[in-house]
Amino acid sequence: MAKKSKHTSWDLSPAPESTGHVDIKKKYDLFIDGKFVKPKSGKYFNTINPASEQVLSSVAHANEADVDRAVKAARKASGPWQKLSRKERAKYIYRIARLIQERAKEFAVIESLDGGKPIRESRDVDVPLAANHFFYTAGWADKLEYAFPNRKFAPYGVAGQIIPWNFPLLMAAWKIAPALATGNTVVLKPAETTPLTALKLAELIQDADLPPGVVNIITGEGDTGAAIVNHKDIDKIAFTGSTGVGKIIRKAIAGTKKKATLELGGKAANIICEDATIDQAVEGIVNGIYFNQGHVCCAGSRLFVQESVYDEVLEKLKFRIESLVVGDPLDKNTDIGAINSKEQLHTIEKYIKAGKAEGAIMYQNNCDLPSKGFWCRPTLFTNVSQSSKIVQEEIFGPVLAIQTFRTIAEVISKANNTPYGLSAGVWTDKGSKIFNLSSQMNAGVVWANTYNKFDPASPFGGYKESGIGREGGLHGLQAYLKF
Ligand code: NAI
Ligand code: MG
Repeated sequence: MAKKSKHTSWDLSPAPESTGHVDIKKKYDLFIDGKFVKPKSGKYFNTINPASEQVLSSVAHANEADVDRAVKAARKASGPWQKLSRKERAKYIYRIARLIQERAKEFAVIESLDGGKPIRESRDVDVPLAANHFFYTAGWADKLEYAFPNRKFAPYGVAGQIIPWNFPLLMAAWKIAPALATGNTVVLKPAETTPLTALKLAELIQDADLPPGVVNIITGEGDTGAAIVNHKDIDKIAFTGSTGVGKIIRKAIAGTKKKATLELGGKAANIICEDATIDQAVEGIVNGIYFNQGHVCCAGSRLFVQESVYDEVLEKLKFRIESLVVGDPLDKNTDIGAINSKEQLHTIEKYIKAGKAEGAIMYQNNCDLPSKGFWCRPTLFTNVSQSSKIVQEEIFGPVLAIQTFRTIAEVISKANNTPYGLSAGVWTDKGSKIFNLSSQMNAGVVWANTYNKFDPASPFGGYKESGIGREGGLHGLQAYLKF
């Protein structure tokens, strides 16, 4: 069905060295039916570099008519894509994975420019994991009957996918890879502050000769997302973002044929027991909350320390925070990059103010901050109460709230006492404690003596207001199939 491919094999040998070339166009149109097309809305908006406030590019703002065009392209491509042999579909997905590896450096630089995250993270986490998601699902694409033995299944058809700004390329991979592997076609919308790696992915998908219309990538703001959610010919919605928008989506699709997976907010508890290896735990706590400026749904934003080791943990944490380098996201020594947007910085500042007003004690590293751009020093609060805003609400910034506990029963009851249930961390040298604590935590993921570890084979998702459904692993594939 596709035109003759430029690629003759699906060579899995190591990717050649990237040239390091970064190409950001001044203007991007919508990627629909295999081509970049002008938006019917006639509108564009700017995406900036949050570390410098400079405009990087102007991207199309899709309206309802544009969404309709993208959905029609996805629908038209759906039948032939489903009929294609599973082996052929797998080849396309492998090819996308390979091309991401080949262009890894360019993706990493653009990700850090557009979103503000440290290049070390884009380079070592976001981009390789994105490629791995395509590799992982490609592996299943022609073996689905072994993944779900003795069950009849079929793809939903057209998936509408809306993603956030904290892991732009990686979230695009989490959404697109399982949809393609199961025979669905896609209309994906990246977040308005970070559209550029998704648009690069659109160019890559063109180069991979994916049949036109199988993946459509359209940019826009919340209204574009709402137009996707409300389009009558979409079968499945996959959303990652705020709990507030997740609730709007649930209401909007109630009573329709649409199925949804929602990956929403979190307020994860990281628990240090007195028998833990403290230095290792402190490293894990720092990574848990300050990775990606704390713009992480599973950020370990609440720390519970057993009373007997509290002084030692606090002293070591403060020492470690002092050493974190805040600044230029493109510098490979940077630990904390720019806050993703002015709006998000305001949200974080509002919570820091609320923490102080509620009587909590703040500690920050006192580094200088660049004069342009959006920045927040790594911050921790002690003397916080369980009911305070900074303990109950998602801040989505580099702000840690620390509490103490005496007994396991006490910490479980406090850790579970928020509206969220996405993830948690446990630090202890006792295996039995790991199983005891993790079995009682209301969390979709519990890490033990580590944090923020991801693998394409592991399912990820939350309880309570943290969402519906799981992504990753076989669960993630299952979410795109009807049985
Ligand atoms: P958001 O939920 O508004 O944005 C996420 C995506 O949803 C974007 O692509 C946006 O354009 C789209 N969107 C917005 N309104 C929509 C609607 N009515 N229908 C369909 N799509 C819509 O998140 P926002 O405002 O950027 O961040 C606010 C807070 O949300 C953050 O402070 C953080 O607490 C939380 N958040 C959580 C994320 C997670 O990974 N769980 C990711 C991003 C934000
Ligand atoms: Mg940007």
